[in-house]
Amino acid sequence: SWTAEAFVEEQVRLIRERVGNKRALCALSGGVDSSVAAVIAHRAIGDNLTCIFVDHGLLRKGEKEQVENTFREKFQMNLIVVDAKERFLKKLEGVTDPETKRKIIGEEFIRVFEDEAKKLGRIDFLVQGTLYPDVIESGTKTAAVIKSHHNVGGLPENLDFELIEPLRDLFKDEVREVGLKLGLPEEIVFRHPFPGPGLAVRILGEITTEKLRIVREADAIVTEEIKKAGLYGDIWQAFAVLTDVKSVGVMGDSRTYAYTVAVRAVTSEDGMTADWAKIPYDVLDKISRRITGEVPGVNRVVFDITSKPPATIEWE
Ligand code: XMP
Repeated sequence: SWTAEAFVEEQVRLIRERVGNKRALCALSGGVDSSVAAVIAHRAIGDNLTCIFVDHGLLRKGEKEQVENTFREKFQMNLIVVDAKERFLKKLEGVTDPETKRKIIGEEFIRVFEDEAKKLGRIDFLVQGTLYPDVIESGTKTAAVIKSHHNVGGLPENLDFELIEPLRDLFKDEVREVGLKLGLPEEIVFRHPFPGPGLAVRILGEITTEKLRIVREADAIVTEEIKKAGLYGDIWQAFAVLTDVKSVGVMGDSRTYAYTVAVRAVTSEDGMTADWAKIPYDVLDKISRRITGEVPGVNRVVFDITSKPPATIEWE
């Protein structure tokens, strides 16, 4: 029967055989799939693997630090962290259309990745965390593509790398088992899905540093309280959305006119359909009080009670 140990051993052997003394590159997102693929490849070829993590400025609080701590400090891997915040923000200036935002981020990601790859000299292989369900999905093109789900984190096609995809035969739960076996922190192994375009799809309207600050702070509070309440493992995703709506509020003797944050929490099996999560009122209360109390620029918090369909999980 299948075991994580035997799987890792076999993949390490295969990658060693294939790569030999050549070099490989990996676009690390910090999600479970690319993390597990990278650690397996690192076991196989050590310093001949270079990982690239792109900070597009749309990351959650502490995300970059977690990736640095895990892969550079703990696993001693060659990790390049690209600070591309300015580049992405500049490209996104004045853009409000959701699809255009996604397109810009996807394209810019590839450019940043290519620029970094070019600096590294000859590299023949690209390690990717493709899973079995991804293989199936790309084999059967669905007619109704509602959103362009650029899986930011892959595909620099014209750099002609040979692909290494150690997780191609695995389902998500098997990948998690392998991740634990490899010593990856539970925070990464059981992390909720996070979209490649990051916080950009959780900010309605134009993306600005001010709005990024608000959604990032609010999101950290939602995650913290969901974890504290012991709900993280039962929920598919829980996060904050910054609506483009301002409304009137009151603080002390004066009126305020500030943003509305929406809290989104769903349960789901695969992200294709989802139910809004029935978060206990006291947890919602805590989240609301903390966001309005700790995040300047927000005076109202609402809870999204829509399932998918008809809504999507993300707001853009
Ligand atoms: P929606 O919003 O379409 O999301 O209901 C379904 C699942 O997909 C994630 N998602 C993305 N993941 N790149 C990704 O890698 C994307 O562009 C993207 N858009 C949505 C979303 O977080 C949810 O888990």
